[in-house]
Amino acid sequence: MRIGVLTGGGDCPGLNAVIRAVVRRSLASGHEVVGVHEGWKGLVEGLFEPLGLREISGILPRGGTIIGTTRTNPYKTGSVDRVLANFREAGLDALVAIGGEDTLGVAARLHREEKFPVVGVPKTIDNDLSATDYTFGFDTAVFIATEAIDRLHTTAESHNRVMVVEVMGRHTGWIAVMSGIAGGADVILIPEQPITVEQACAELRRRHERGPDFSIVVVSEGYELTYESGERRLVGEEARATDQFGHVRLGGVGDELAREIEQRTGYETRVTVLGHVQRGGTPTPHDRILATRYGLKAADLVLEGRFGRMAALHGDDIVDVSLEEATAELKTVPPHFYDVARAFFG
Ligand code: F6P
Repeated sequence: MRIGVLTGGGDCPGLNAVIRAVVRRSLASGHEVVGVHEGWKGLVEGLFEPLGLREISGILPRGGTIIGTTRTNPYKTGSVDRVLANFREAGLDALVAIGGEDTLGVAARLHREEKFPVVGVPKTIDNDLSATDYTFGFDTAVFIATEAIDRLHTTAESHNRVMVVEVMGRHTGWIAVMSGIAGGADVILIPEQPITVEQACAELRRRHERGPDFSIVVVSEGYELTYESGERRLVGEEARATDQFGHVRLGGVGDELAREIEQRTGYETRVTVLGHVQRGGTPTPHDRILATRYGLKAADLVLEGRFGRMAALHGDDIVDVSLEEATAELKTVPPHFYDVARAFFG
């Protein structure tokens, strides 16, 4: 068999660990692997590179992806026929697609409509894919955000300031809630449970009047500024273009929130936007292991001819689920997780 592998969407720590595992398992079973460069764009344009032991040597701890990635959507650009033709011409028999809801959404549709022989691996720092307990990359992002919060604590305390930390996560607050709990945040604002700006300020006042004169506020980039009047506003929504999957580029809510907090409470407030630091660099051991297990499972699914499936984590077990189920809806933060965070507000 000739097995293609592609990485799509935002890069993510652990992508190379998956590629390595797919290649190792496939070569050991007597098959060939071909890297498809830059996500779905590589199939639209025919960008291929054979992947052997030499190409994957030393990549386990490396961030990013050795085969590149883009947010190309062949359904948006009308290039599904070219995907199918290039796949055939390259002599490929199967594809491992490593991605989040967008990349795997394309994979699910190709499988449904074209019987395309594809299996999926759940990647995203946002942890918002359904049908799996965790995506790889998330643990690394939470680790980086937690470390940042720890560092901001000491400077916040020294200057008696409020520190607002803006983290990624798109339309879910997984990174904010988990890093906020781990870092002892005093208020956390996420899209799923939008407490108002007034409530956030009340929590900060309660805390500062009681004792410590500093606070840490974690805000997820997709939190809509929400007011008691009922007004809600997603920062950047009006002004920015969307990508090929219809997503607006988020970011900037931290600045606006910090301004609001300072004006309403009088507490000196600063903001830190973590941005792509959360996605860069080496994966945690947890993510390396999870990505490796996902990669082996994906290769096994291909070798068994079980297409339209995605490797998933259920408890301690790596299982397989349908791509349709995984991409049907976003996995949001359940209220019980937010309640844990909320117990430490103020
Ligand atoms: O989906 C991963 C993610 O990092 C989101 O958290 C964030 O909103 C988005 O990608 C940023 O994308 P880009 O790197 O294309 O700006």
